[in-house]
Amino acid sequence: VSKRSVKDVVLNGSSDEAVRIQGWVRSFRKLKENLFLDVSDGSSEHRVPVVTQVSSMPKGIQMHTSVDVTGVLQPSPKNPAILEIHPNEPIKLVGSCDQQTYPFGGKIRYTQDYIRQFIHLRPKTNKFSSLLRLRSATSRAINDYFTNNGFFQVHVPILTSNDCEGAGELFTVKPASEDLVKEMRKENNAAAGTISTDEVVYFDKHVHLSVSGQLHLESAVCGLEKVWTFSPVFRAENSKSSRHLAEFYMVEAEMAFAYEIEQILEVMENLVKSSIRMALTDCIGDWNVVTGNSDPNLRKMLDHMLAHPFTVMTFDEASKLLKEKASSIVQPGKGLSREQELLLVEQLNDNIPIFVIDWPSEIKPFYMRQSVTDSSKVSAVDLLVPTVGELCGGSLREGDVSKLTSKLNAMDPSGSLQETLSWYIDLRKYGGTPTGGFGLGFDRLMQLITGIGNIKDVSPFPRWPHHCPM
Ligand code: 4AD
Ligand code: MG
Repeated sequence: VSKRSVKDVVLNGSSDEAVRIQGWVRSFRKLKENLFLDVSDGSSEHRVPVVTQVSSMPKGIQMHTSVDVTGVLQPSPKNPAILEIHPNEPIKLVGSCDQQTYPFGGKIRYTQDYIRQFIHLRPKTNKFSSLLRLRSATSRAINDYFTNNGFFQVHVPILTSNDCEGAGELFTVKPASEDLVKEMRKENNAAAGTISTDEVVYFDKHVHLSVSGQLHLESAVCGLEKVWTFSPVFRAENSKSSRHLAEFYMVEAEMAFAYEIEQILEVMENLVKSSIRMALTDCIGDWNVVTGNSDPNLRKMLDHMLAHPFTVMTFDEASKLLKEKASSIVQPGKGLSREQELLLVEQLNDNIPIFVIDWPSEIKPFYMRQSVTDSSKVSAVDLLVPTVGELCGGSLREGDVSKLTSKLNAMDPSGSLQETLSWYIDLRKYGGTPTGGFGLGFDRLMQLITGIGNIKDVSPFPRWPHHCPM
């Protein structure tokens, strides 16, 4: 008998069929001489019941052990719609489970804080395995969206010499071995004689873990017109907030011939909507598990979002609305606080996401295009969504070489920034086009879809300040 997934057996199995499955024991009950097991295997949220006689049960089979079961499908006497496996060979114990020390062994509901102490075992829990499948389905939806809309996926580097966001929130990379560092310095000094001994180096220069793949996408878009990427990015923000990680997954898209910000908004809206829609259709069983047997309010909120066009308003309009309708003042020189983001979408816009456009240039990165109508503004956008706040950030890119270089020189009068980014300026010189794009925080999208409040609980292996246990 060849092996089948539990999902396939539950959804497609028929009475009297011989089947073999491999999985983990999720429930374990003895009733008189019978033993009732539920087995799941990670293929879906489904479990298949296994019914056998206690006398024929091999030693060691208990909750959470891994087993290999061969038998025949029979309708359950209590509910004939459910098929049970009746083993016709002894159940094989594949891996035992120490009941005394297994941290998720009890019958109680564990708190997220408790579960997070055992990140390496978390994928074994029902809820987190459903979350991981939901993440996978959402990732596939994003892939499908871009593929169906003529975007090419480009792999961007993780090691980079640039600070895309200019915020200085960088992790710098150096070789682990001091001996190797010495050797590299020796070689480099012999060649150039410039590297001082206290400098941290990657071969012969400072490099960082990328905070965004945008600059590299801007290069790729000059050859491919529509590109996207999906990769981990790293931010040395010392933030313990429920929506910041030190390493997170970002989806980024970049388009050539982007004259108007509306071209970017259209892609953002369709991407967000189609990925939520697909997660809720293809993976509804897992969504139900993750949201605690379906959360009607969350479902209503998501359906409501999907049914309405997203709102567009300028930063000045958003500031005015906050002041007039909620007595909340946007501080000069500051962006919107998390509270203000949520106020805007949830209280003042009936939970419909908002594109906030036309931002003051002083609070946005160097690469954003100056607005045609107001030189103090840039053509930037933040997408605000209920429960999360900022989900995406994007802009049209500055194509004017002199504006770009004067911004870089204002940031770094020594001219070295302009030198490191000379390749970036080059892109404007050789058949450049107006470009634009955006980045979407994938972990925050998962928070939106699941209603999970803490970003650490939607990331498979979250990294946050002082936390990198494995
Ligand atoms: O707004 P950000 O910083 O934009 C960029 O990095 C642009 N270069 C993207 C582009 O235009 N290609 O980041 C984009 C999104 C944010 O809107 C937010 O959802 C998420 O990334 N994000 C984080 N998610 C988790 N943890 C953090 N520390 C995050 N910082 C940003
Ligand atoms: Mg942002």
